[in-house]
Amino acid sequence: MSTEEDLPQHIAIIMDGNGRWAKSRGKPRHTGHRAGVKATRAIVEAAAERGVRALTLFAFSSENWSRPEEEVSSLMSLFFEVLQREVEILDKNNIRVRFVGAREQLSDRLQKKLAAAEAQTAGNDGMELALAVAYGGRWDIVNAVRQLSERVAAGELRSEDINDELFADSLSLAGMPPLDLLIRTGGEQRISNFLLWDMAYSELYFTPTLWPDFGAPQLDEALEFYAGRQRRFGRTGEQVDAPA
Ligand code: IPE
Ligand code: IPE
Ligand code: MG
Repeated sequence: MSTEEDLPQHIAIIMDGNGRWAKSRGKPRHTGHRAGVKATRAIVEAAAERGVRALTLFAFSSENWSRPEEEVSSLMSLFFEVLQREVEILDKNNIRVRFVGAREQLSDRLQKKLAAAEAQTAGNDGMELALAVAYGGRWDIVNAVRQLSERVAAGELRSEDINDELFADSLSLAGMPPLDLLIRTGGEQRISNFLLWDMAYSELYFTPTLWPDFGAPQLDEALEFYAGRQRRFGRTGEQVDAPA
């Protein structure tokens, strides 16, 4: 029987495999990205239905700027189009949206759309959805260091008062529940500079399923995997099993 504890509160997903999905059908890569959007919509809905409190999706990494210009610009247009179309639905579903990443690297028009989506959904208290665009785990950490060191330089903070908690409060996902489960589709077993700090104690789930083929049944398989893990956080299995 599943208990509330068996459900991850916060899931992050590296949505990988759109290009290969398209290639296997003899289609251009952008067809795969469009199919990926459909999968994204279904997973957001399924996660919210299952009672997940927070979902973080890796849509575009700091390294993805190195892709051919044509692919980068078609992805940026796709983000804009999706925001235009989907924010209303997210809002109706009581989902709160946050964007994480180096947003100043995005076009002005996309930055405005992102800010508008955040503002429109700010009052919602359902699932929190973090979309990582132009995001890198190293960028996030460096950014936090910069913010904290500025506060130290301004005399607002003493360096000896910096601890795990304060550091986490300076990262992009500040205020979100701890990251319980990381899913990567597309078969690679690597992190590709995603949430380096946040995944210190996440359970890791890798599946060969390509992102456009990942739907609610595949999410349920990942949730089942998660429910079967014993999270020890450094303790022994006996300690974890002992009645409180
Ligand atoms: C993930 O799919 C989407 C982005 C990185 C934007 P890919 O585009 O990396 O797909 P593959 O890995 O080439 O199949
Ligand atoms: C990771 O996928 C980034 C996103 C899914 C947005 P990549 O396809 O860019 O990762 P690598 O290059 O295979 O490590
Ligand atoms: Mg890839």
